[in-house]
Amino acid sequence: MLTLRTFTLACTIAVLPITTALAQTAAPAAPATGTYEPKVGQEGKDVIWVPTAQTLVDSMLKMGEITADDYVVDLGSGDGRTVISVAKLGARGHGIEYNPDMVALSKRNAEAAGVADRATFAQADIFESDFSDADVITLFLLPDLNVRLRPTLLEMEPGTRVVSNSFNMGDWTPDETVEVADDCTNWCRAYKWVVPAKVAGEWIVGEGQLELAQTYQMLSGSLTQDGRSHEISDAKMDGRTIAFTANGTRYTGEIAADNTMTISADGGERLSATRSAG
Ligand SMILES: C[S@@+](CC[C@H](N)C(=O)[O-])C[C@H]1O[C@@H](n2cnc3c(N)ncnc32)[C@H](O)[C@@H]1O
Repeated sequence: MLTLRTFTLACTIAVLPITTALAQTAAPAAPATGTYEPKVGQEGKDVIWVPTAQTLVDSMLKMGEITADDYVVDLGSGDGRTVISVAKLGARGHGIEYNPDMVALSKRNAEAAGVADRATFAQADIFESDFSDADVITLFLLPDLNVRLRPTLLEMEPGTRVVSNSFNMGDWTPDETVEVADDCTNWCRAYKWVVPAKVAGEWIVGEGQLELAQTYQMLSGSLTQDGRSHEISDAKMDGRTIAFTANGTRYTGEIAADNTMTISADGGERLSATRSAG
């Protein structure tokens, strides 16, 4: 029986031509031998299984700007395709999947692809798992599940990339959206967010004062110099990088792990900024 939580994706699949749904199941590599055959639309704990088209997996990993040093966690990892693709890029991937049969299948698929050393899987509930050490999170869940995960994601290390197939994060505006057309019929759009450093408050910058309000990565506020206050515009965090314009000058800076800021105007002299005690 389908629960309400599994309804959204299930309904969409139900109205798709069967060939379309099946087209999405086609894994690019030959599946590893095993007796378990997953079915698109099969029930999952909080969301049914629908695999991400391989072309979108590839685009999502590009969006995640994955390097060999990265550790990528796929939340609800299905047949393991995203994690295995990560491992093929030379990075480490880990999948958290509730369905034990899918976990076993993923492990077989990783073995068959020759990447089992860098592609690992755990049978667990994503809402009871610690993935705080990931550099990149990938997911294909549902909007309400993304919103439930959002506070945890926002507490991750600034600069962590979060890439979601098809579903948004509520009012957290994505930093990037990509849509693929090749070999993808449904669920072909991905969103990316970069976890922003927390900078809201008052900062002392040289002789001036920077006052920042923050909504996710978006900033507003003012820069006061020589007793004159200038509203900041085009102001945004990109992980630990801050950028804004004030009084016609573009400022860029970095937030260090010790919560200090260095900032410069149009690439000029770098100034240290510290949080105002008040
Ligand atoms: C839409 S599929 C996406 C699979 C894979 N990430 C992909 O993109 O191909 C969602 C997966 O999440 C799993 N799942 C659902 N609720 C879960 C939970 N609470 N914890 C772990 N996995 C879950 C389902 O079993 C299913 O395999």
